[in-house]
Amino acid sequence: MVEEILGGVNGVLWSRPLIRSAAEAHMWTRLLVTPALAVLLLSATAPALEPPTFSDEVVRILQNRCQTCHRPGEHAPFSLLSYRDAYDKKDDIRDAVHARAMPPWKPVFGFGDFLEPRRLSDAELATLLRWVEAGAPEGDPANLPPPLVFSEGWKLGPPDHVLEMAEPYTVPGRASDVYRCFVIPTSFPEDRWVTKVEWAPGDRKLVHHILSYIDTTSAAEALDRRDPGPGYTCFGGPGFNPAGGLSGWAPGIQPRVMADGVGMLLPKGARVVVQMHYNNNEPESRTDRTRAGLHFAKGPIDKRQRSIAALNRTFTIPAGDRRYEVRASWTDYLGRDLHANTITPHMHLLGREMMVTATYPNGLVRPLVHIDDWDFNWQGTYTFTQPVPLPRGTRIDVVAVFDNSAANLRQPSRPPRPVSWGEGTIDEMAIVFLGVTVDAERIGWRPAAK
Ligand code: HEC
Repeated sequence: MVEEILGGVNGVLWSRPLIRSAAEAHMWTRLLVTPALAVLLLSATAPALEPPTFSDEVVRILQNRCQTCHRPGEHAPFSLLSYRDAYDKKDDIRDAVHARAMPPWKPVFGFGDFLEPRRLSDAELATLLRWVEAGAPEGDPANLPPPLVFSEGWKLGPPDHVLEMAEPYTVPGRASDVYRCFVIPTSFPEDRWVTKVEWAPGDRKLVHHILSYIDTTSAAEALDRRDPGPGYTCFGGPGFNPAGGLSGWAPGIQPRVMADGVGMLLPKGARVVVQMHYNNNEPESRTDRTRAGLHFAKGPIDKRQRSIAALNRTFTIPAGDRRYEVRASWTDYLGRDLHANTITPHMHLLGREMMVTATYPNGLVRPLVHIDDWDFNWQGTYTFTQPVPLPRGTRIDVVAVFDNSAANLRQPSRPPRPVSWGEGTIDEMAIVFLGVTVDAERIGWRPAAK
């Protein structure tokens, strides 16, 4: 049995035991011929083909797969628009796509089905590798497709209400990993149902990701008062028990649209707490003032978008342990039949791997998500292609793996220390959130007649 495969990501070798038990083995057989291996096999046997050129094949892949982030003003550190841009970065491109570090997409292929996977097809990957191998030829510029046009402004049309950080926030030059929560009050006289949220980062070069939480108490404002300057420092969570959220944003993420009849509840008088993760790669300071465009329900709402979590808060990861497993199992959320539409794995800097499965009352195991190269900076909410049924009695199992050794480049404690649950940079979490609706729910909210 294959015990381990070694994968190189960003030059670091992580050992990843993939198969834990014979029962899990069947899920993995199809993953053993990895795409990179397939490419090697392909290039070993294929006859000498005309190499792909930038103007023909390569630019089209960059347009489809890279330019949403790799263009001026966006968060990625360089552009991939022109031949010159791509030629200058050809070796980095080869390494990044070969390791599947780029485009950033963490879920292991074939374990759970998600919308908008940002994964290169094997053919696209092979084309990029062959192009670099052939010396990255330009080809005939006459064959270039028209450049992509990126629209400014709200993609979903004018929102009904715009939430905005109360004041701009300035991040000093060369400051990396600044995590800050900003409290935005709302003053609607009644509960509102939100069906679409479009995040508009103020400075897209600065903003690495956005998470949002709803506070119906005064907890967030108290935290804000205690911390000088706009907002307050927060890392692994908002510092209070949230009453929901309004989704989030990361580079390349499309605005979230709810299914018909499903809404996110924004309770009357609630505060929206926006957690910003900033990275300033430039020498000079930069300023952000992020906004969110909310769209309220225009039609009936029968189901509330809810969040359930499977978590383990009682672990201690021994100092120095290279591979420490934390497990969590939960059954019978709300005692109802549910459908899950999104999944959000969450760990901090020591997290290396997370696997989540659903075991049905009849014993069938359904893969939900597997991240085998966790990166706190690329955490995401993944939307299932089809809502996943979670009938009453389904068990959600989480296996989270942590590397608390000094060899972990992301290790925040030198020397390593025993680590338990907490919201700080040097604490950990082992939690998965599922965005769910309750099958039997019939809220019966109807828009007021005009
Ligand atoms: C969702 C946004 C996004 C997409 C899509 C994306 N990149 Fe990146 N890329 C980034 C960011 C941000 C960085 C900076 C490093 C980081 O934050 O991980 C980066 C870094 C890189 C690097 C530097 C080396 C590294 O791994 O850090 C290369 C090379 C690269 N990208 C190539 C590509 C190519 C080629 C594509 C398309 C096939 C692509 N990227 C698609 C956001 C993106």
